Amino acid sequence: MTSGPAASTTVAQIAEEWDSYQEIPAIDEAYAEALGDQFAGQFSGATPHYLEQLAAHLGWSATTRVLDAGCGTGGLTAALAARTGCTAVGLDASPAAVRVARTRLAGRPEADRVDYAVGDMGDPDLPSGSLDAVLAIGSGYWSDPATTVGHWRNLLRGDRPAVVVVIRRILRPQTSHDIELTLQEGLFEPHPDWETALRTAGFDIEVRDLTEADAQCVERLYAALARRLPALRDQLGDAPGERYLAEVKVLRDEHRAGRMRRTEIVARLGGGHDPC
Ligand SMILES: C[S@@+](CC[C@H](N)C(=O)[O-])C[C@H]1O[C@@H](n2cnc3c(N)ncnc32)[C@H](O)[C@@H]1O
Repeated sequence: MTSGPAASTTVAQIAEEWDSYQEIPAIDEAYAEALGDQFAGQFSGATPHYLEQLAAHLGWSATTRVLDAGCGTGGLTAALAARTGCTAVGLDASPAAVRVARTRLAGRPEADRVDYAVGDMGDPDLPSGSLDAVLAIGSGYWSDPATTVGHWRNLLRGDRPAVVVVIRRILRPQTSHDIELTLQEGLFEPHPDWETALRTAGFDIEVRDLTEADAQCVERLYAALARRLPALRDQLGDAPGERYLAEVKVLRDEHRAGRMRRTEIVARLGGGHDPC
């Protein structure tokens, strides 16, 4: 489940799958190799540098409270807090990922501004009106956008709260061969339509294409993982190790074929339109 839309996946299934990817040295090493000095423990191509630019664009500061929805091992949550001074809560379905996140955070200077919790990002158990922004990086594949945006909207406060969704989507049509290769039919279900869900909920949205940088990152990640296949098989198990690599190969091949898009959706409420 490296990525791919399947809104019918349950939170328990998400947790089970992502629990299995935690503390697998071959995966962490491959991401570290692919991301170089921008590696912060993440399971995506997003970087601390990217977050810094995003925070500057959206005017996030020490008074901003951000939910990192689907935070994984929390490297980006902590990097966001460290680089912008904001407070952040990282939420993930995977108890193992949250354990790793808490361990890595302990003792860091930003520790008092970051919390992690286990839960469903599609329906976070947080007080309404307690957040200035929601960030979902590489996590919006398995939640229903319309329902999720409805819940997130209730959590937001202030004049100009934001939702940022960064998501990879494969352009259709797809062949049965593709499906056979990935062993993951969900990858080819209709794209989760965050844009429509956000617009319908009253957000103004800006969409930016991040495909080129993602293609380069996926190339490096696949190469780094392929070199570690024996370790992946050893650490994840033979079949899951091979499946993990096969899924990343599909991402790489889809990029090579020009059928993959990585998209940043920045959505804001309260655009200050004057009533006519
Ligand atoms: C590709 S990882 C990205 C993690 C992190 N955002 C990063 O960039 O490193 C996807 C994460 O989303 C989490 N996730 C997916 N659906 C979720 C849900 N409904 N509730 C909570 N976490 C979810 C998974 O458990 C996994 O840790």
